[in-house]
Amino acid sequence: MTQRSCLSIILAAGEGTRMKSARPKVLHEVAGLSMVAHVAKAAKAAGGGDVALVVGHGAEDVRKAAGRLDPAPEIFVQEERLGTAHAVLAARAAIARSYDDILVMFGDTPLIEAEPLLAARQKLAGGAAVVVVGFRPTNPAGYGRLIEKSGKLVAIREDKDASESEKKIGFCNGGLMAISGSHALALLDAVGNRNAKGEFYLTDIVEIADARGLDVVATEASAESVLGINNRAELAEAEAIWQRHRRREAMLSGVTLIAPETVHFSHDTEIGPDSLVEPNVWFGPGVKIASGVTIHAFSHIEGASVATGAEVGPFARLRPGAELQEKAKVGNFCEVKKAVVEKGAKVNHLTYIGDARVGAGANIGAGTITCNYDGFGKHFTDIGAGAFIGSNSSLVAPVTLGDGAYIASGSVITDDVDGDALAFGRARQKTIPGKGKELRERFAAAAAAKKKAG
Ligand code: UD1
Ligand code: CA
Repeated sequence: MTQRSCLSIILAAGEGTRMKSARPKVLHEVAGLSMVAHVAKAAKAAGGGDVALVVGHGAEDVRKAAGRLDPAPEIFVQEERLGTAHAVLAARAAIARSYDDILVMFGDTPLIEAEPLLAARQKLAGGAAVVVVGFRPTNPAGYGRLIEKSGKLVAIREDKDASESEKKIGFCNGGLMAISGSHALALLDAVGNRNAKGEFYLTDIVEIADARGLDVVATEASAESVLGINNRAELAEAEAIWQRHRRREAMLSGVTLIAPETVHFSHDTEIGPDSLVEPNVWFGPGVKIASGVTIHAFSHIEGASVATGAEVGPFARLRPGAELQEKAKVGNFCEVKKAVVEKGAKVNHLTYIGDARVGAGANIGAGTITCNYDGFGKHFTDIGAGAFIGSNSSLVAPVTLGDGAYIASGSVITDDVDGDALAFGRARQKTIPGKGKELRERFAAAAAAKKKAG
């Protein structure tokens, strides 16, 4: 079947306004990835071949975002919102290239996976002209009902056009369709708009195909997988479902999640077996966690990679470009950005490491700050292997500290420090014997005099 050519048409035109957003609906995200990208990803996984994206008039943002999809889709514009069949026909030029299979998907069903698409393509390969992916929603109101006669799908009746008895049917159109490329244009061109909405319904091709003696088939998918998003409450529902699946997948692959419902993954999070994630952890995009890593509670991680045996948090923030090598530690209230923390190095408390290298085995004391920004440019701090940075030090970049360098606590380091050297960047301590007692007595006398006078 993989030899069969395929065109995936994703409809993303004529979106409503129920998201109450300046952003087009299909660009709203689930797990950090736009809904339309989720759909494109599923199509790709199902061998969806070339992609045609149908957008509405204007839709500059959608066009721009589409350029980043893989494969980049061919964009078609549906100038007027005249219905789903009309939208599909906006991609006429692509359909006319005679593909074996044509998949039609909606850009607002982010939970769709490859499996029902593959099952539908399988039916086309078996000779069906039209395949409808059905589902059984808890409440069928609003959906097209699948009308079957002696076990055969003969029509889809849209909710607004359905009779009372048809409205009782629980088996509904999930919005995914597979159409044989050799019949597609003839079927679509036969669709009229004499219905309750005055629209050209894609769903009408079922009745047309049946009347022409073509084979029409319904398959079934879970209600979750075809969930269509119309507002932000539904978006959050989709997010919750996606997260639940991903957490389960992580646990089944050997990751321990102590309180799974409090861990948030991104669409591309990678995490290896025998890693442990404590409660309340956020993985933004671009995170790669190896095996045997411990992520303590309340950590926020994005664009970072963490190697085997490393430990993060509690309350740590790893920002893009943070790379923790084996057995490195980044502890509580530390932020690491665009910096490598080499093997076994420790950044344990209240520290900012940005644009830096922390050499293997180095120890960064509490409250250390790499001063990487001068208001105009970013500068690099290079900390050698085995260096010891005393607490509350400021390392003013660009600056290089050699291997084994030792920095006294409270230093402001502006000049390079050679390997194994000791550097003080602060005033030395001066101690005056008895001076404390003298001061205390003087202040007490002054206070007593003031009280007497007042
Ligand atoms: C559609 C189906 C219905 C199915 C339901 C599943 C039709 C006629 N009806 O109904 O059987 O149960 O989805 O959710 O297909 N679109 C365009 N241009 C248009 C019209 C729509 O691009 O002119 C796009 C929309 O952006 C959306 C999709 O097509 O992504 C579906 O359109 P919508 O109006 O939401 O159809 P429903 O009434 O929900
Ligand atoms: Ca809809």
